[in-house]
Amino acid sequence: MADGALKVLWLIHGVNLDMLGRRAPEHYGTLTLDDVCAQVTARAAGCGLSVRTFQTNHEGELIDHLHALARGDEPADAVIVNPGAWTHYSWALHDALELLACPIAEVHLSAIDEREAWRRVSVVADLAAVRVSGEGAAGYLRAVDELRGLIADD
Ligand code: DQA
Repeated sequence: MADGALKVLWLIHGVNLDMLGRRAPEHYGTLTLDDVCAQVTARAAGCGLSVRTFQTNHEGELIDHLHALARGDEPADAVIVNPGAWTHYSWALHDALELLACPIAEVHLSAIDEREAWRRVSVVADLAAVRVSGEGAAGYLRAVDELRGLIADD
């Protein structure tokens, strides 16, 4: 099947997630971001999804990227997002995600509900059709499976 015929799943990472593999392994594990992206890409390919990845440490860049997806500059049939610390306070990110028409999965490697009080708040939770935290990299794979069931076939 040509790539153009596949549904597109965006795997989006926010601030500090480029440091996976060397950042607090007791919370985030030892896989690098490239490892996570490779695992998600393999899982998604198995259910007919093409993965595109994006990571930034700059909030405005993430907002601009989401605007591009909302405008349809690039296809987006589903989004997995781990916003990092922006999860907990970025209403700008909330409003940009709200522009998307496709289903969104919010994924966290660590168990944000069991850590510091400030991490227990997610300002994007209300937009997420799927929420996973505390399952490490396996959580992304569950998000792929759950999103697949939510993507309309046409
Ligand atoms: C995180 C949890 C956030 O609290 C933290 O700021 C991160 C990573 C996670 O994947 O567990 O950067 O989103």
